[in-house]
Amino acid sequence: MAQIKITETILRDAHQSLIATRMTTEEMLPVLEMLDGVGYHSLEAWGGATFDACMRFLDEDPWDRLRKIRAAVKNTKLQMLFRGQNILGYRHYSDDVVAYFVQKSIANGIDILRIFDALNDPRNLKTSIDAARREGGHVQAAISYTTSPFHSNDRFADYARQLEEMGADSICIKDMSGLLKPYDAYALVKAIKEKVSLPVQLHTHYTSGLASMTILKAVEAGVDIIDTALSPMAMGTSQPPTEPIVAALAGTGYDTGLSLDKLDEIGRHFAGLRKKYLDSGLMDTKVLGVDVNALRYQVPGGMLSNLVSQLKQAGKSDQLAEVLAEVPRVRADAGYPPLVTPTSQIVGTQAVLNVIMGERYKMVTGEFKGLIRGEYGRTPMEIDEDFRRRIIGDSPCITCRPADLLSPELAVLREKVAPYLEQEEDILSYALFEQVAVKFFEKRKAKKYRLDAPNADAALGIHSV
Ligand code: CO
Repeated sequence: MAQIKITETILRDAHQSLIATRMTTEEMLPVLEMLDGVGYHSLEAWGGATFDACMRFLDEDPWDRLRKIRAAVKNTKLQMLFRGQNILGYRHYSDDVVAYFVQKSIANGIDILRIFDALNDPRNLKTSIDAARREGGHVQAAISYTTSPFHSNDRFADYARQLEEMGADSICIKDMSGLLKPYDAYALVKAIKEKVSLPVQLHTHYTSGLASMTILKAVEAGVDIIDTALSPMAMGTSQPPTEPIVAALAGTGYDTGLSLDKLDEIGRHFAGLRKKYLDSGLMDTKVLGVDVNALRYQVPGGMLSNLVSQLKQAGKSDQLAEVLAEVPRVRADAGYPPLVTPTSQIVGTQAVLNVIMGERYKMVTGEFKGLIRGEYGRTPMEIDEDFRRRIIGDSPCITCRPADLLSPELAVLREKVAPYLEQEEDILSYALFEQVAVKFFEKRKAKKYRLDAPNADAALGIHSV
């Protein structure tokens, strides 16, 4: 038995899952030093959707947020979530952009990069793993967990072994939709531990109500690190709560060594924020309960609500049962991709079309064709030749690493962003979210002007809030 280490997710996944990633840097700052004093293994504080949300909704520079967090958190490792060749965006980027993003993330304060690919295609992780190693970062390679007739503990363990050979420093089981059940987690951790000598971390979500039990069984199976969130921002679609896990393991050989008193003190700050989010409607009580449908249909909670709203828009709400039966069939046709951004949207939308058109694949989205063509990488299971021809005809497939087809982008991006450039990192913000970044840069410029000229506010009739 060994001491269990904890990654606290309250600064990233917890609020991404519960309040659409809207926690501001201002709301984090008062407790950062206290969080640093807890003795966590790491604080997950950046990446995922936070980058996009900072610029799109909060008028914040994501790089500035990272630097502020780093300045206050002097001892604890800072961790980010990184979508492999997709970086923090939704398409594949060229290798020079991926490598530069990794370099700048580490230069601005990131210690651990959790890197994953939606299809578990290791070729999509190669550039970011190599870059992180070069920059001295800790590479945590993640397995996108899913269930299907193709996926098994053996196959996941083989993948983990492959990631170890590619240079990973630790392995994460990334159960993005809370589908991993306690006894399955036990068997999976054991299977991975048998083939890999690296530390193993478990990331799961409380969506289906299983997560705390799943963590406990993973701990018994020998998992090294677990992800939890302080209780005011835990459970529901977020992570299992930190404090009860700490209490459950206290006094056993798995003791986390963390102090409940310290956690309580920090928790009070977030309890205040929780009340504020609930009052403003930013936090919907719907995301706080147990989603039994996630257990029944094995689809991520977020995907289910997307299906419901797509059907509603089409005026076909009564066909949800048919769509839920169609999702696994489309997924099988597409070679059993794990359902996570972007594959969850691609498979879900195609399933909706198949049902509402009254004929399967009568209408096929460009993204679904892309998935079948190999634009996102290799699907877990090979796609049936006849099916492929039916979807994309005789147009050629991509069998190489998709990013091999992309030319370097950095030089062009640098030129395009020149009129707005205030820091090197702006090039990367622009690379990922072009229009959102430009809007943000323009606002930033305007704000600077006001800051530089104190009377300008009054002159323009602008009042600070
Ligand atoms: Co997550």
